[in-house]
Amino acid sequence: MKVAALIPAAGSGTRLGLGPKALVKVGGRTLLARSAAALAPHVAEVLVALPPGEELPADIPARAVVGRATRQASVLALLRATDADTVLIHDAARPFLPPGVIQALLAAVQTTGAATAALPVADTLVRAAHPRAAAQHWGTLTPREGLWAVQTPQAFRRLALLAAHEAALSDGYAATDDAGLLARLGQAVALVPGDARLFKVTTPGDLALAQALAPVWDA
Ligand code: C5P
Repeated sequence: MKVAALIPAAGSGTRLGLGPKALVKVGGRTLLARSAAALAPHVAEVLVALPPGEELPADIPARAVVGRATRQASVLALLRATDADTVLIHDAARPFLPPGVIQALLAAVQTTGAATAALPVADTLVRAAHPRAAAQHWGTLTPREGLWAVQTPQAFRRLALLAAHEAALSDGYAATDDAGLLARLGQAVALVPGDARLFKVTTPGDLALAQALAPVWDA
């Protein structure tokens, strides 16, 4: 089984406002360098989708492809750039990746064909009454029982995921992750316990959390 790690890292980081998000540093290292270093020991190669015009920093042992306008299109470019039979797809923006999660995903993909890190939802969930209104009000309570928050990494047989991406492209279907594209076609996706530290750095608050966690993680 040849495994490649595919890291979409081509986001512009608009919500953070510090330039390309994957190249933001926490604890002295970029989010991308942390994600790539966590994956490298488990795979034959690491491929990264970078924002157009960016070069791969010298300390990252990976091959770069030019990212596209959406995460979905960046992942499709990565899938087309490797001949690996199994792929681990991981957002650069999730820099704290425990090795046990990678091992569990690689075991699950061999039996189920697709697997994602995910965590049971702990908060009460409510849909806002008028989601686009200026002031938000409680609308409908959504029971959280059986709901999971989906993280990355996600593991797939590459050709199955490539077919799901190509089907989504021709249907004009957009998803925020890759497991959703396979599940749409009726294929099973295993939910593997993720980790609270695998949160995605999206907002300034997330970045503050990452900066606080980095020295503990690195110790
Ligand atoms: O925007 P969001 O935080 O959901 O992005 C998730 C991951 O996808 C990030 O690591 C980001 O760099 C990547 N991405 C990409 N190409 C895009 C948009 C996002 O590779 N056009």
